[in-house]
Amino acid sequence: MPSPNVINVALIGCGKITLQNHLPGLALCPGVKVVALCDADAATLERARQQTGVTITSTRHEEIVQRDDVHAVIIATPNFTHAQIALDAIAHGKHVLCEKPLALNYANAQAMATAADRAGVRHMSAFTYRFVPAMRYLAQLVQRGDLGQPYHFRSCRLQDWGTRSVGWRQVKQLAGTGELGDMLSHRIDFAHLLVGPMQRLVANLKQWHSVRGGRPNDLDDWVALLAEFKNGATGVLESSKLASGRNESWRSLDSVEINGSERSFVFITGDWNKLQTGKIGGPGMQTIEIPREFWKLPGAPRDPTQGDPLVTFRYDQAWEFVDAIRNQRPCNPSFHDGARAQAVMDAAVKSAETRQWVDLEIGDARTPTTQPATRNIQ
Ligand SMILES: NC(=O)c1ccc[n+]([C@@H]2O[C@H](COP(=O)([O-])OP(=O)(O)OC[C@H]3O[C@@H](n4cnc5c(N)ncnc54)[C@H](O)[C@@H]3O)[C@@H](O)[C@H]2O)c1
Repeated sequence: MPSPNVINVALIGCGKITLQNHLPGLALCPGVKVVALCDADAATLERARQQTGVTITSTRHEEIVQRDDVHAVIIATPNFTHAQIALDAIAHGKHVLCEKPLALNYANAQAMATAADRAGVRHMSAFTYRFVPAMRYLAQLVQRGDLGQPYHFRSCRLQDWGTRSVGWRQVKQLAGTGELGDMLSHRIDFAHLLVGPMQRLVANLKQWHSVRGGRPNDLDDWVALLAEFKNGATGVLESSKLASGRNESWRSLDSVEINGSERSFVFITGDWNKLQTGKIGGPGMQTIEIPREFWKLPGAPRDPTQGDPLVTFRYDQAWEFVDAIRNQRPCNPSFHDGARAQAVMDAAVKSAETRQWVDLEIGDARTPTTQPATRNIQ
């Protein structure tokens, strides 16, 4: 379908991530207008209306997605609502950027991807950490072959959330899974991006606290996966809300190490413009700087020297969505990437329940990055 001159976007869900990421990201994009807001909570909706000045508002997404003056929607609601809102938006021909995890199970995530492909709309999963400059550079180096044959993928996400309430995130019916969907889903996506699809896994989930903030907690506080990839590489992924003293968000540990036949790389989200790397047989790991052309997505309107770089890299996500709509090309990452991560999440839950290895049948998630690496790593 032809892309409009001005892209009119509706925000479904006006909570934390919409205010923190989606609104400022969209505000940077020329030719993009936020024209409608939806939130099931009237007070939250009113706050967002006052903050943005957007006058078309509704507590029901159905009223928003059917509007002819809405071209695209961003879904930033609790996980259990994603699939239905996305399917309704797609049925009305809207482009959709949906928060992770895409759905509560693989069947729903796959249905979203299939419906979006059939409707010919752009579809994107909000795996925001793909936009960290160091991750984009690392993906490029791995794709170019600098790693050699991948041997091991390792990721560790450690935060200190204590026993505080995490709201809908601690209710199985609303969130699906705990730490697995909330935090590990991004790292599963890293693994697919860097190594390719997982083939089998064994997992464990642990709930330490059955009460958070005085209310029942149904879900996992900790998760670990041991995985084999289709190409033979092995993976170890761990994520916890209970790494006491480690702080939260980008002030806490989010690391990926990947070892291959030629060299190793270490990525740490907090070090947005650096990687560590070491050559086989070499003296050990050294730090390399990320070339400036990787500090933002090519063409993105953001000035990477402005603001806190650990916040502002997230705004490139909105640009990716908008640019894909304008140029009628697939979004990167798409619903297919979201569905592949969902397949792994389903398998992890099954494995933890049955205490067995679980086989996976998922396609190759890697899509070419849009920017060539400029120099060889010595
Ligand atoms: N990509 C990332 O890095 C990232 C970071 C944080 C959250 N998220 C994801 O974003 C989503 C939202 O998280 P949040 O932290 O903003 O949550 P939040 O609770 O702050 O906001 C969610 C909002 O959705 C509203 N809502 C609930 N049901 C609705 C419905 N049916 N229709 C319209 N509005 C509805 C709620 O009233 C609330 O205001 C979740 O899926 C979460 O996993 C992603």
